[in-house]
Amino acid sequence: MPEPKLSADRLLLFGATGDLSRRMLLPSLCALDADGLLSPDLKIIGTARSEMDDAEFRNMAREALENYLPDERRGGMAAFLNRLSYQALDASTLDGFDALADKVNEAGPSDSGMAIFLSTAPSLFGPTIAGLKHAGLTGDNVRMCLEKPLGTDLASSCVINDAVADAFPEDRIFRIDHYLGKETVQNLLALRFANILFEPIWNSNYIDHVQITVAETVGLEGRVAFYDDAGALRDMVQNHMLQLLALVAMEPPTSFDATAVRDEKVKALRALREVQASETVTGQYRAGAIGGEAVPGYDEELGKASDTETFTAIKAHVDNWRWKGVPFYLRTGKRLPERVTEIVVKFRCVPHSIFEGMGASMLPNRLVIGIQPEENISLSLMAKVPGLGQDGISLREVPLDIAMPDAFVGQHRRIAYERLLLDLIQGEQTLFVRRDEVEAQWQWVDQVRSAWEAAGVKPQTYTSGSWGPSSAIALTERDGVSWHE
Ligand code: BG6
Repeated sequence: MPEPKLSADRLLLFGATGDLSRRMLLPSLCALDADGLLSPDLKIIGTARSEMDDAEFRNMAREALENYLPDERRGGMAAFLNRLSYQALDASTLDGFDALADKVNEAGPSDSGMAIFLSTAPSLFGPTIAGLKHAGLTGDNVRMCLEKPLGTDLASSCVINDAVADAFPEDRIFRIDHYLGKETVQNLLALRFANILFEPIWNSNYIDHVQITVAETVGLEGRVAFYDDAGALRDMVQNHMLQLLALVAMEPPTSFDATAVRDEKVKALRALREVQASETVTGQYRAGAIGGEAVPGYDEELGKASDTETFTAIKAHVDNWRWKGVPFYLRTGKRLPERVTEIVVKFRCVPHSIFEGMGASMLPNRLVIGIQPEENISLSLMAKVPGLGQDGISLREVPLDIAMPDAFVGQHRRIAYERLLLDLIQGEQTLFVRRDEVEAQWQWVDQVRSAWEAAGVKPQTYTSGSWGPSSAIALTERDGVSWHE
């Protein structure tokens, strides 16, 4: 039996005045509090470079909650704000860390330890860990949580991971991929492993191909420097999309336990085949219109010409017995016509149609797992069209739909960070990414980038509001496959 984990009663938030903290972390914590999910003893200490006192930090937090958390989820906001305190710190030098430790101790003795959330630039990870060590804030009962970007390639990610490992063992490191906090992503595990229906046919005998789409309508959103250095491959594929792929492709774990689940995910990631440049497409958006609104091109937003891809489509393969010959088509991009994240599993056709020649077109079954904006699962089945057709039976595809909000009435939609912050506080690592997963992800992505470099790949432009360059359509069409739209 694994040892029960203690819930932390201190949460130390680095980057507490930043965008992620204001838009996601503080609202998520307040929402958890409103639902009675935080221990009354939990104290939250914010830290960042800005000089402010507790009262000013609470005011900033109040504004953030009012902006980013719906009214009905703000019950008990005053009590939540009372949990907060603040210490200004320049994390690039050791100087302020003793004062930070004093502030943490001011919150009173801790019975069950502390969770630290680093929502800062990765360049500060190393100095922050050194400062925490120096101030005695890395003890056995301290957990460390990191947010991406964890490097820009395998080598730089190893440097970050080594710096963290210098102060924290892997079972106290929590690497966030916020997609793992999304309800339908977790539902994928439930769908696969809590139902007898799918597992027997979840393999190359029955599945023709898998599509994973993460489409966004937004452009750069002011993240100029970060995005132009990253591009779609490193920003979206390396983490979120490969995690989705791993959840689809993994073998059944023996339990819903952090080691069991992550062992299986990493095996799937390591089985990813090297990709040829010809099996990929890259694009960059130019000016266009989305939902009737004109939007500028990438280079206009950036203020200069650039070769960074804002779209990529890749035909990937997982080389193992289960997935032999089954393509996984991945596509992600900014300034696409709609915001949608979905996984489509297309099954094979029935081996022999008894309806042949009766005017009935047979379509293969298809499972669509909608992650956002709608959370739904839809299985398309062939059904008989009612009536007395002249030619016997006429068939049509009909969906068997589960809209999650309808199936679970009364459950509010949660921010992905609510699940992850609660798990961090409770010390539950299943939905966090282990070092070997991150490294397997980088290894594959580095290989894709090397293939691009070797082939001199430059992104093709696509009009904002379209589904990317036309070659993205050709990528699947040449296999007789259409993207699901
Ligand atoms: C982030 C990327 O990790 O995920 C952003 O850096 C992207 O570029 C975002 O917009 C998408 O997240 P979500 O939850 O809106 O799909």
